[in-house]
Amino acid sequence: MGPKRVLLPVVAFLGLLFLAGLRLQNLSAVSPLQPPLLGSRLPLPRHGTLPPPRAPRCPGQGFQIGHLLAAFRGCVTPEGEILLQEYLAGWKELIKLIDALGAAFGLLARETQTKMAILEGHRSGPHAPHYHTLQAMVAFELRRGQVGLRVLPPDQPPSGSRTLLRLHRALKWLELFLGKLGRSGVEEDPSQLCAEAYQAALARYHGWWVRQAAELAFLALPSRRELYGLVCAEGEKEARAVLLDAVGTIARVYNITQQLYATHGLLELP
Ligand SMILES: *[C@@H]1O[C@H](CO)[C@@H](O)[C@H](O)[C@H]1NC(C)=O
Ligand SMILES: *[C@@H]1O[C@H](CO)[C@@H](O)[C@H](O)[C@H]1NC(C)=O
Repeated sequence: MGPKRVLLPVVAFLGLLFLAGLRLQNLSAVSPLQPPLLGSRLPLPRHGTLPPPRAPRCPGQGFQIGHLLAAFRGCVTPEGEILLQEYLAGWKELIKLIDALGAAFGLLARETQTKMAILEGHRSGPHAPHYHTLQAMVAFELRRGQVGLRVLPPDQPPSGSRTLLRLHRALKWLELFLGKLGRSGVEEDPSQLCAEAYQAALARYHGWWVRQAAELAFLALPSRRELYGLVCAEGEKEARAVLLDAVGTIARVYNITQQLYATHGLLELP
């Protein structure tokens, strides 16, 4: 273990703390960060005829892959609409996963919580009935001209459509990363896989500093064995199967969202 291997994660962590402090000062004033999400679990309605999640249980661990699968499965209605409550429940579980990736991912976890808080605010606000599904939300906000297609509308809280787009992009990163983790050979370095997923899904939306901080955070990623341990499967083969199961479930939700945003020309919202 050379000094480079030790130093970089430390630098990454400090850099992220710095960025986190800078970037979240304002956001947290608009929408207070939620308390730690451990143990909070929303009741999830079941839809369709999907088999029950093959979900190893992880006693004593915050992140539960079973909750993740249940939420992202439950969030697609038989009509192909996306229920926001369940979508956010899925994200609550993903945040626990991100937290488990190490302290260097704190910035990302907190940014994500801020986005979720904005959406929860819309969901419990005066127009709550329009925030039941993703499709209704987008239609409602477009109708009211709340979605700034070129610039952010001033003096308004961020629209749900714009906010969810940020989560949607991050979801692609996680989908790609978990997919690579499930499919790659043991000789492939998870840090590298995570960086590739980031390059493909997210990097182009981030400024230079955030990209540098992210690249450094990936170097501090846990080992493949530890990452497989997070899904609490028995052995590597099952861990891979569980991961790919999660990837398929996430991809379905991602694809529906992507299609909706593409149809309305919203994929590049500022
Ligand atoms: C917070 O936002 C306001 C405008 O909304 C801006 O004037 C101020 O500089 C921001 N503060 C920080 C710390 O970013
Ligand atoms: C999602 O879309 C991609 C690209 O269009 C496709 O390859 C993939 O099979 C889709 N996955 C699901 C689960 O719908």
